[in-house]
Formats: sequence, structure tokens, C-alpha cells
Amino acid sequence: MKIGIIGAGNIGGNLTRRLTALGHDVSVANSRGPETLRELAEETGATPVRAEDAAEGAEVVIVTVPLKAVPGLPSGLLDGAAEGAVVIDTGNYYPQRDGRIAAIEDEGLTESRWTEQHLGHPVIKAFNGTYAQDLLDRARPAGDPDRMALPVAGDDEGAKRTVRTLIDELGFDTVDAGTIADSWRQQPGTPVYGLRAGTPAVEKALAEATPERPADFRA
Ligand SMILES: NC(=O)c1ccc[n+]([C@@H]2O[C@H](COP(=O)([O-])OP(=O)(O)OC[C@H]3O[C@@H](n4cnc5c(N)ncnc54)[C@H](OP(=O)(O)O)[C@@H]3O)[C@@H](O)[C@H]2O)c1
Repeated sequence: MKIGIIGAGNIGGNLTRRLTALGHDVSVANSRGPETLRELAEETGATPVRAEDAAEGAEVVIVTVPLKAVPGLPSGLLDGAAEGAVVIDTGNYYPQRDGRIAAIEDEGLTESRWTEQHLGHPVIKAFNGTYAQDLLDRARPAGDPDRMALPVAGDDEGAKRTVRTLIDELGFDTVDAGTIADSWRQQPGTPVYGLRAGTPAVEKALAEATPERPADFRA
């Protein structure tokens, strides 16, 4: 599959490593330009590109930058993506890092809805509560008793299916965490956030979430 990754940090870098190893055709971008991604490209075989080119022809685009960087992403970022492209959002709102975002704090917009509005494209929320290192260390074959499950939320059932299949390929089970309106259940500070567990525990954690944003994650 042709995959564009915008952000080459902890999560973007490790997704580049894993997805290229699985044989996907990955383009990857950061904020400083493709010349700064030479090492990652040599290591993985991914194509380093400018952010504005990262989605070109991509069937899946992964946006994995700090929330504060989302409004400044190039306009028309997704214009060249393949028809029906699926956009994955791995983001979390950390007010200490991202500054206060009133739409999230005061209006109660879910973090991924806020991101969708800036991107002008629906997203599937995935990987936001997954430790970057776990993408390298904790992949397991289907059926392994230690296989972790990751929650996946989104409004488009077909897009969600595509992402769940990709995550299965990466070595993790998935749990359908509902729509983007429901996706507060997997935001920072919820029981499922950072949980390393299988499907039943992830389902239980999602069910036990409460909608109030924890104090640690408020500005
Ligand atoms: N770290 C984790 O374990 C983890 C786990 C789950 C979810 N998350 C969430 O996933 C998102 C990414 O986290 P991370 O830890 O991978 O971040 P990170 O290590 O700080 O990396 C961020 C990446 O985004 C790039 N970037 C920033 N502005 C950009 C722009 N305008 N255009 C293109 N690229 C841009 C940066 O480029 P430069 O290097 O050029 O600055 C960098 O490659 C965050 O919202 C985070 O909360 C993180």
C-alpha cells in the first residue's frame, strides 16, 4: 500500500520502520525538509519528502505531529492523496506542549474532531495511546496470548476497517472504539490511554472512561 507519513518523530519514525519492513511504499516528511531524513530513509527504504508532497498518491496518510503543529500544516496537504484515502490521526492534546486550545477545553470538541476540522478531512483515531517503542517491541502474531489490542475510532466504517487491517498486520489486535464523537474515551488520562493489554481489558477500559477531562490534561 502507498502510505504517507507526516511527522518523523517517535511515532512517525517507528511507523516508518514497521510499515516499510512489511513491504509498504512509505513516504515520510518532517518540518525541516527531506534532507534531514536521510538517515531514516537509508535505514528503512522510505522516501523522504516535503510535507506538502507526503500524501501524493497515498491510500493511507498518517498525521503524527504535535497538535500545535496541525494548524500550520501546508494547506491542501491531502489534495494529491488517492481517492478515498484514509487519514490516521495519532495526536494527543497536551496543553503544556500545545498551548491552550479553547475548542477542546471549553467547547468539549474531541481532539480528533479538532484535527479533522483543521485538515478538512475525516480521520481515524489510532495509536494515540500506544507507546512509540511498543510498535517495535510488542508486535505479536494473531492469537498470541500476549498480543496487545489498540482502540480505533472513526466515523467511516470502511476507513476504520482499513486501519484495523493495517494494525493487525503490524502485530496488534484492535477494538472498535466508536465514532470520533466517542473518541474522548481514548484521550490522555483515560483508563485505556497507555494500557498494555488484550481485547477484553481494552473494551473494559473504554467502557469505564468518564467524559470529564482530567486536571493533568487541562491548561
Ligand atoms: N511519543 C509517543 O510515544 C506517542 C504515543 C502516542 C501518540 N503520540 C502523539 O503523536 C503525535 C506525535 O508524537 P511524537 O512523540 O512522534 O512527536 P515528536 O517525536 O515530537 O515528533 C513530531 C514530528 O512532527 C514533525 N512536525 C512538526 N511540525 C511539522 C510540520 N509543520 N510539518 C511536518 N512535520 C512536522 C516534527 O518534525 P521536526 O523533527 O522537523 O521538528 C517531528 O518529526 C503527538 O500528538 C503525540 O502526542 C505520541
